[in-house]
Amino acid sequence: MTLQDIPQFQADALAAVAAAKTPDDVEGVRIKFLGRNGSLTALMKGLRDVPPADKPAFGQALNALRAAFTEALEARKEAVAGEGAAHEAFDFSMPGNWRGAGSLHPLTLVTEEVTRIFAQMGFTVADGPDIETEFNNFDALNTAKHHPSRDERDTFWLGPELLLRTQTSPVQIRTMLARKPPVRIINPGRCYRRDTTDATHSANFHQIEGLFVDVKPVSLADLKSTLAHFAREMMGPQIQVRFRPHFFPFTEPSVEVDFSCHVCKGKGCAVCKQSGWIEILGAGIVDTRVFRHVGYDPECYGYAFGMGVERIAMIKYGVTDLRHLYTNDLRYLRSFA
Ligand code: DAH
Repeated sequence: MTLQDIPQFQADALAAVAAAKTPDDVEGVRIKFLGRNGSLTALMKGLRDVPPADKPAFGQALNALRAAFTEALEARKEAVAGEGAAHEAFDFSMPGNWRGAGSLHPLTLVTEEVTRIFAQMGFTVADGPDIETEFNNFDALNTAKHHPSRDERDTFWLGPELLLRTQTSPVQIRTMLARKPPVRIINPGRCYRRDTTDATHSANFHQIEGLFVDVKPVSLADLKSTLAHFAREMMGPQIQVRFRPHFFPFTEPSVEVDFSCHVCKGKGCAVCKQSGWIEILGAGIVDTRVFRHVGYDPECYGYAFGMGVERIAMIKYGVTDLRHLYTNDLRYLRSFA
């Protein structure tokens, strides 16, 4: 190539730029001339072989050529922006890229619903730690020294007098140690027991505890009407409640509380095992020995109750295997949204 050939080269290069119709075309032209193997690149590399006398003039001409070419290229790039491939343009009619909203876990839904219902009746939420003392979890709840639930095959012991709470009932003790009556609390929380996981058991599960203490007489009838209201709010207006005698160390008398089956309306079906009733809670009148342990006047009156959150979720949502609640399969959890 000689100096005289440069105008022709430039004319060809600018014609190629002018012929580009899309951003891709412009890029193609750039590569053809200025890419690693581009013809203009080769021309500039050849400068070192030009005789020294011709070098300044040749160099200047090449620089001017290169400047004219890149300027034309930039101008063309702007002119054709938005042309060609469809994805280069923004199409406002395209459907959005929906990522889905999150949803609450069924155990959270149940906990919030129970809390809401009891809040309407004046119960406030109390809290307590997962790591408890033996005193709060057992002694103060009037649990005999050799009661089997204290056994290390049932309880996760962390030290001589420290454990992972096996129930939310110790929050009753914490609350009464901290406050004077009247007390009206509800406490949702995690509990731990050495249970082998199966369809209805888990070593880590959730309970909701309730405690009502007053200086005026409180009876089983008060407990029953409170739980009947809860049952109807939670499961539906036609739900009946029945008490069966039971034993808990911290209540006397103690009862187990059944709701009439919401599926068959009490006629008998697979959900209620043909009995028409479903066991939901443990409850009772607070034992005076518990009041003594927390320094309350044993003449106080109170009732307490405790329920399993998993159990209510299973009944309310027809969950057949509690493990579904823990494996965090989003396809499953989204069905509760
Ligand atoms: N803590 C009991 C359990 O884990 C449930 C319970 C029963 C709680 C009776 C209570 C109650 O407050 O009065 O089985």
